[in-house]
Amino acid sequence: MERPAWAPRSIDISVPSVSRMYDYYLGGSHNFEVDREAARKAMEFMPGLPKIMQANRAFMRRAVRFAVDEGVTQFLDIGSGIPTFGNVHEVARAADPGARVVYVDHDPVAVAHSRAVLEGDDGTDVVAADLRKPREILDSPEVRRLIDLNRPVALLLVAILHFVEDADDPYAAVTELREALAPGSLLVLTHASYEGIPLPPDRAEGAVDVYKDIRNPLIMRSREEIARFFEGYDMVEPGLVPMPQWRPDTAPEDEDPYAFSGFAGVGRTA
Ligand SMILES: C[S@@+](CC[C@H](N)C(=O)[O-])C[C@H]1O[C@@H](n2cnc3c(N)ncnc32)[C@H](O)[C@@H]1O
Repeated sequence: MERPAWAPRSIDISVPSVSRMYDYYLGGSHNFEVDREAARKAMEFMPGLPKIMQANRAFMRRAVRFAVDEGVTQFLDIGSGIPTFGNVHEVARAADPGARVVYVDHDPVAVAHSRAVLEGDDGTDVVAADLRKPREILDSPEVRRLIDLNRPVALLLVAILHFVEDADDPYAAVTELREALAPGSLLVLTHASYEGIPLPPDRAEGAVDVYKDIRNPLIMRSREEIARFFEGYDMVEPGLVPMPQWRPDTAPEDEDPYAFSGFAGVGRTA
């Protein structure tokens, strides 16, 4: 297989990656046949997967605008993925040109492409790091340069925590990040769940098994388990809800039924 110029040498392009599969669902061009094959297999079970991803991006953009409206203009986006349409810095800057954004991902393609897109932009940066090691993120030169931890930060954990297994204690990572943030900081989160998927459980399980097969299991959590990530935060109205129901711009009834899979919410630290 030929390696395109944007693909870092270090990556194994014979193994699907969740960030490149996500790029494919969203109609992006930073993916390989192995990624498309795995994504298409998951879509055989859940044809509406792209609708879920689109609802996820749309929620993220509304939450970023909400943060800026609340006066929070520093963003730490962990699990930021491969840049696509309507990235956090674009949405935040449209609302406040002085907004600062640090993107974090452990996927080399996501990091390389983010670097290429952000080159020469002083108000943004990208860190290659792992959510399971929050200290490395907080102590990175990029975070130190761009984010003032004495002022509120919007921490984005959008469609990432469902890739962190319980054995790696995602709750401890989220707590460590919260403890580093100033009062008035926001946690913006989405998470996959069997709740809300408009399919019988065995169909949804078929799609989840595709991620298990590529050794990147998708951890489906209940609403209650997801709510625990907001410990220490006050929920912003309307709370933890299906994505189209969080401060919608258009009538949620008009959304595709798949968009109601999983949960989204924003919390604020006191
Ligand atoms: C489904 S994409 C979400 C991208 C973006 N946040 C969004 O919602 O559009 C999940 C991203 O999280 C990244 N990721 C998964 N586990 C991670 C970890 N432990 N540390 C850092 N990034 C991680 C993946 O590489 C991928 O780019």
